[in-house]
Amino acid sequence: MFGKRSNVADRPASPMRVAAPAAPPSNMSAPRSAAQPSAALLDAEAPIRSKDYFDTKSLVFNAMIEVIDVSMLSKMESETARDEIRDVVSEIIVLKNIAMSMGEQEDLLDDICNDVLGYGPLEPLLARDDIADIMVNGATRTFIEVGGKIQLTNVRFRNNAQLMNICQRIVSQVGRRVDEASPICDARLLDGSRVNVIAPPLAIDGPALTIRKFKKDKLTLDQLVRFGAISPEGAEILKIIGRVRCNVLISGGTGSGKTTLLNCMTNYIDDDERIITCEDAAELQLQQAHVVRLETRPPSLEGTGAVHMRDLVKNCLRMRPERIIVGEVRGPEAFDLLQAMNTGHDGSMGTLHANSPREALGRLESMITMGGFTLPAKTIREMICSSVDIIIQAMRMRDGSRRITHITEVMGMEGDVVTVQDLFLYDVLGEDANGKLVGKHRSTGIGRPRFWDRARYYGEEKRLAAALDAAEIEPTK
Ligand SMILES: Nc1ncnc2c1ncn2[C@@H]1O[C@H](COP(=O)(O)OP(=O)(O)OP(=O)(O)O)[C@@H](O)[C@H]1O
Ligand SMILES: [Mg+2]
Repeated sequence: MFGKRSNVADRPASPMRVAAPAAPPSNMSAPRSAAQPSAALLDAEAPIRSKDYFDTKSLVFNAMIEVIDVSMLSKMESETARDEIRDVVSEIIVLKNIAMSMGEQEDLLDDICNDVLGYGPLEPLLARDDIADIMVNGATRTFIEVGGKIQLTNVRFRNNAQLMNICQRIVSQVGRRVDEASPICDARLLDGSRVNVIAPPLAIDGPALTIRKFKKDKLTLDQLVRFGAISPEGAEILKIIGRVRCNVLISGGTGSGKTTLLNCMTNYIDDDERIITCEDAAELQLQQAHVVRLETRPPSLEGTGAVHMRDLVKNCLRMRPERIIVGEVRGPEAFDLLQAMNTGHDGSMGTLHANSPREALGRLESMITMGGFTLPAKTIREMICSSVDIIIQAMRMRDGSRRITHITEVMGMEGDVVTVQDLFLYDVLGEDANGKLVGKHRSTGIGRPRFWDRARYYGEEKRLAAALDAAEIEPTK
């Protein structure tokens, strides 16, 4: 057999049933502590795995790596490698007298193949479409977010070294590395999922791996309406805002749905517009033909070669863009984006972290101030006013649902203060018996938003008037 170092039979077989392996990895033998979260938090779909299972797996795995050259396996076709592992695992099970059903044996084989050939215990989570985020806090605790709620899973790694190997495998696929010398790393899985790794010594309890799962079929505005994230009239207004080249900022907290919303908004950009996207890790999926996608680059190990968001945005301006889309504005590139919005690149868009439209304006101002631009506050605010047309606020509510809570227009300046006007709001009215929030989207009753003339210029004013007329104004109690 290719990849084998020696025959399993050469090894002394221990005559045991596997409850107590000679030297189980430390995390395997740890009993579930009282500090473990309650069962209610556990992921309902994951198979229940006993300590015996992990002990058996650890025993079989240790026996396997003594007879098989794992590094050779990873270079083989996955089917061939799997057959190889199947042979060895079956032999070990027989030789060591491990009592197992065929089903259990298949599960064990899957698990071991995942460890050796793929992303180990993460594989079943990566294969699931209903998971939004995977959060691994060291070898023993892996959480997932499903339907807006965070749950603990049964997934465990043999030890932190195995977890670190998997992290390394992930990031090396996009030419990056993570180790003690460079313990922070952003990367992407081959399927497009966004990955962050922070390793010891910075992460005290073992490597922390965070994955934002890539959704092949990105949510559309119509789906957001179906989920109740926005009302049909609100969605219609967003479509018009996207089409008529308003400059848009999407504001929201972590995981509130900013990127998803940005992606939705780009669907309404006309096909003949040249769009340039700048992102830290490419997540957007634009449907248009004329798109150039740019991505930042972290510094090399020697600390050279970094390309920052600001470099990309500045470069964009020399690429004859019609619209510039910035995945996330978090630093001095805010200045360049505003300049672009202000100088003929109408319809540019970006997201930023803030908890309300008003806070988004403040964040934008402080990003510019902290970027070392010595401009008076009033000048920066004037610049913001003349650049940004609309702020859309996304929020992850306390019941796990995600909603668009504000569609707000930037109006102008009154003295030193930027004035804004809400067009659409989400009112929380209460909670149902299952703890789900009950609420309603409503229009604030503004009949002529500031972008009316722009809508008319694009022939969309009738559609805009109809959507504003149809929207409910008073929240129904
Ligand atoms: N309205 C929605 N309803 C249900 N799920 C949603 C909704 N909006 C977004 N999601 C899901 O929530 C997850 C997070 O969304 P997204 O990546 O857009 O958030 P984000 O605000 O950009 O996060 P981050 O701050 O980490 O960049 C994704 O899996 C996405 O599919
Ligand atoms: Mg995002």
